[in-house]
Amino acid sequence: MRRESIKRFIPYFLKYKLLLLVTLIGMIIASLTSALIPYLIKNVIDTLIATKNFANIKNFLILVAIAVLLNIVFKLIQIYVGNYAGQRIMQDIRLDLFYTVSRFKIESFSKEPSGKIITRITNDVENMNDLLNAGLVSLFADLFFILLAIGFLIYINPKLGLIVLLPLPIAVIFSLYLGNRVEKIYEKVRDALTKMNIHMQEVLTGIHVVQIFDMEKIVIDKFKKFSRDFRDNFYKSQVTNVVLRQTVNISSYISIFLLVLVGGILTIKGMGTIGTIISFSSYLSYLYGPLGDLSDKFSILQNAVSSMVKIDEFLKSNSLEENYEDGNKFEVQGNLALKDVYFAYEENSDVLKGVNIDVKKGESIAIVGFTGAGKTTIANLIFGFYEPTKGDVLIDGFDLRIACKSHFRKYLGMVLQNVFIFKGTVLDNITLGDEFPLEDVENVCKTLGIYDYIERLPNGLNTELSTEGKNISLGERQLISFARALIHNPRILILDEATSSIDSHTEELIEKGTRILMEGRTSIIIAHRLSTIKHVNRIYVLNKGRIVEEGTHEELLQRKGLYYEFYKSQYK
Ligand SMILES: Nc1ncnc2c1ncn2[C@@H]1O[C@H](COP(=O)(O)OP(=O)(O)OP(=O)(O)O)[C@@H](O)[C@H]1O
Ligand SMILES: [Mg+2]
Repeated sequence: MRRESIKRFIPYFLKYKLLLLVTLIGMIIASLTSALIPYLIKNVIDTLIATKNFANIKNFLILVAIAVLLNIVFKLIQIYVGNYAGQRIMQDIRLDLFYTVSRFKIESFSKEPSGKIITRITNDVENMNDLLNAGLVSLFADLFFILLAIGFLIYINPKLGLIVLLPLPIAVIFSLYLGNRVEKIYEKVRDALTKMNIHMQEVLTGIHVVQIFDMEKIVIDKFKKFSRDFRDNFYKSQVTNVVLRQTVNISSYISIFLLVLVGGILTIKGMGTIGTIISFSSYLSYLYGPLGDLSDKFSILQNAVSSMVKIDEFLKSNSLEENYEDGNKFEVQGNLALKDVYFAYEENSDVLKGVNIDVKKGESIAIVGFTGAGKTTIANLIFGFYEPTKGDVLIDGFDLRIACKSHFRKYLGMVLQNVFIFKGTVLDNITLGDEFPLEDVENVCKTLGIYDYIERLPNGLNTELSTEGKNISLGERQLISFARALIHNPRILILDEATSSIDSHTEELIEKGTRILMEGRTSIIIAHRLSTIKHVNRIYVLNKGRIVEEGTHEELLQRKGLYYEFYKSQYK
């Protein structure tokens, strides 16, 4: 499971194998030189004491200087190249992830909270960066250095070396045990943090509802629980960490005590030197230092691995839209048909039951029905966001299942029920980043009768709109989305009318806009205001997922069925 998740990321690391190799070499040389320095200093001191002649230590001092220099240079190389490679690798992963996520099937976005998706792309990728630099490289460096230090201790004076190392195994065992515990607690800390974030995001998104319905208490209580979990576990993790460090400290004091005691005796007996004692004390502090950090580093490692697993699971539990780039690329003429279409978002609860709709090129039809009847669902199927469970959706006779999505969608235009406005100018929101001459955009606005409105905005077409268009009204958002659809000049237009009621002037504009939009193209109007659709070629009445009536406005009125009821209720 873990191995499989890690495997997914190996190619990203391999791409920079040369840089990683340089990092590794930098690390090895940096460790070697810093392990060598105490040994050289020992020689300086011992030679000085034995010969009392500066000339004899000159060579050793030069060696010390070279070792120090090499150490500084290669440590820099290790850190510089390591971080450079790390950031590049993360950047690649982040881009790939974002690209993949943007190609997910639409159902993923109703399943996964957006906070979670963002966490995967940002935090979890960042954790993986820690894996490389703060984790793997420095962990290797520490372990390598610990081994070197032990080697030097035993090489310089085997007897004394073994004696001062006696407390080390105990420190290692404790570090591993407590480190493991700390890590488990950290897991809870992270869990609480994620929950806090998801909760906060949800509350902030729905802050209007929270404030209007006085939900503050409920919302805060829930937050309190998560933040208490966070507090308690964080506290526990800190305490355990201190215990761990103190254990390592105690071991190191015992080692130093043994060094002074046994080293002293050995030196008096002529079986050791002052230089040995001094170098040993350096090695010991180098040895125990990283040991205290070991739990932090393991935690970083585990954190990174758990992020890898999370990203991997996230990618596995969501699938990409099929045929986004490959598949059948045909020139869309504008004939559209739903043939005996069944569809269910969730198994065994059919939302559409045997829907038949046939629109010829240039025709306009309307779909009306109660809320929840399945109208927007039909639009979703036409866009290829979902596939029918039975039956076919055909454009010009081509099955959408095997059609290239990015290709045929170019011919489709839509005005969604809830218009989405991106952060950017009015112009950006109309062109959506495609190149259109300014004059065309202005003409489109004039045709739709909204040019006056736009001119009255502080900066006209260049007025900045905030995220989700929070600084303009619903009606205005709709009108902008009309311009958006018209300028892209689709062969097939799907207009899912917003349910919100608007003033009669905007309503007039929207009605007029709808008529203009419909001109010369296949149009499917999902209408709530029946006034908009009197002139379409055919009206389909959808009820609980079935087409129950079909015909022109006049025909349906004469039938005195559901449509007639609708009509009557709107024009009492
Ligand atoms: N993403 C989804 N996952 C699960 N069920 C869904 C999803 N979207 C819609 N539904 C369900 O499918 C049914 C049809 O929804 P749809 O949005 O097509 O209705 P509608 O006719 O457009 O209604 P309205 O007039 O209110 O816009 C509803 O019962 C709804 O609960
Ligand atoms: Mg709808």
